[in-house]
Amino acid sequence: MIEVKNQGLILWLTGLSGAGKTTLAQGLELLLKERGFLVEVLDGDLVRTNLSQGLGFSREDRNTNIRRIGFVANLLSRNGVVVIVAAISPYRDVRNELREKTTNFVEVYINAPLSVCELRDIKGLYAKARLGEINSFTGIDDCYEEPLNPDITCYTSKETIPQSLDKIIKYIEQKVLPS
Ligand code: PPS
Ligand code: MG
Repeated sequence: MIEVKNQGLILWLTGLSGAGKTTLAQGLELLLKERGFLVEVLDGDLVRTNLSQGLGFSREDRNTNIRRIGFVANLLSRNGVVVIVAAISPYRDVRNELREKTTNFVEVYINAPLSVCELRDIKGLYAKARLGEINSFTGIDDCYEEPLNPDITCYTSKETIPQSLDKIIKYIEQKVLPS
């Protein structure tokens, strides 16, 4: 039987659309569950279909979305859950605000160049943004403020998915939740 661990943590994955946030969040979820952690994923794309339904992509709406995610993440993490957030969260000030307001906040920068994300264009959103069919698209006509001092950076255009996952797991095991 797996020993259930109840040390909470917020792993905040920030980065451009298509950088690999969702992929890494899902991989982390599996690996952490195997290790006996209680895990929950809050993915911006999904949160926007329920908790943040109706919000758009203005600065104000993004901030509301991110603060809501932060609020829920805090509730869960203080009750022993490892919360993995996968949200673009483009603005530095709100990310820093959440770091201040929460405990065990780990900022993970999912770093891939815009050119690579645009080439991947898994959902076809970059093409639409270039055609002007979507406005305020992060990296195209809306800003992304890179983390200045992230706890972890995953270079998803240079590392494999297992390498990025390993980096995050090692950081957690060594620095945040040593058993
Ligand atoms: S934010 O900025 O943190 O509130 O964004 P988030 O909640 O993570 O939602 C990002 C997903 O919404 C889709 N999408 C857009 N992203 C950026 N800009 C615009 N204008 C936009 N319109 C729709 C897109 O699928 C994002 O998902 P990911 O997984 O990041 O690709
Ligand atoms: Mg995603």
